[in-house]
Amino acid sequence: AGEVAKDRWLTGKKVLITAGPTQEKIDPVRYFTNPSSGKMGFALATAAAHLGAEVTLIAGPVSLETPAGVNRVDVVSAEDMFREVDLRFNEHDIIIKSAAVADYRPKLTYEDKMKKQPGNYRLEMERTTDILQTIGQKKTHQFLLGFAAETVDAIEYGKKKMKKKNLDAIVVNNVKEDGAGFGHDTNTATYIDRQLQEHPLPKMPKTQLADEIFRLMKHDITGDVH
Ligand code: CTP
Ligand code: CA
Repeated sequence: AGEVAKDRWLTGKKVLITAGPTQEKIDPVRYFTNPSSGKMGFALATAAAHLGAEVTLIAGPVSLETPAGVNRVDVVSAEDMFREVDLRFNEHDIIIKSAAVADYRPKLTYEDKMKKQPGNYRLEMERTTDILQTIGQKKTHQFLLGFAAETVDAIEYGKKKMKKKNLDAIVVNNVKEDGAGFGHDTNTATYIDRQLQEHPLPKMPKTQLADEIFRLMKHDITGDVH
C-alpha cells in the first residue's frame, strides 16, 4: 500500500558504468592511484538497475559491495579498464564513465621490489589510453556520459571535454567545494547536456545525485520531462 508506481524507463537497455580509481604499478609493493572511492559509480549502477536496465559495472579497486542485480567486472589498471570497456561498448546503449582513470603510468614496472638509493629518484611516466575519448570516436548509437572533476573553471573545462571526447552529456564537479567529490557521501555537480545547457544540482547524497542524473538523461534520450 502507498507504493509509488516505478518508472522502469531503462527496461531493455544495456548500461555500462565504470567506477573507482585505477592503480598503476611501479613494483610489486608500490603503485600510483587517486582517492576515488567508487561511490558515485556504484550509486549510478544501483539507480540504473532500479530503472530496469541490464547493468555492467567495471570497477577499479574499491571496497564496496556489488549492487543487487548488477554484473560486476573488477579491474586494476587503466589498461585493464580500457580492455574491458572496449570489449563491451558496442553492445551497450548507455555508457557512463565515472571512474577516475590514471592519466599516466610508470614507463617501466619493476619485477622485483626497488631498493632505495642515496639522493633523489626520478621516475618516467607515460600516458595511458583515454578510454572515453577512444569510445567517443568509435561510437555509433550509444549515449555517452562523462564525468569531470576539476579544481578551477569546472564548467568551462567540462564543456571542452564534452566536445573533445564527443560526449552526449557530462557531469562536472569542483572537488575543492565543501562535501564534493572524492571519498565523500555527498556531491555538488552540474549536468551539462548536448545543447551545452547547464543543470546545476545542489549538494546531495551521491545516491540521490545518481537518480537526478538519470532523470536528466531520460529527458535527453526520450524527450520526456517527467
Ligand atoms: N577518462 C578516461 N580515460 C582516461 C582519462 C579519463 O576514460 N585515461 C575519462 C574519465 O573517466 C572521465 C573523463 O574522461 O569520465 C574526464 O576525466 P578527467 O580526468 O576529468 O579529464 P582528462 O581528459 O583526463 O583531462 P585532465 O585530467 O587533464 O583534466
Ligand atoms: Ca585525467
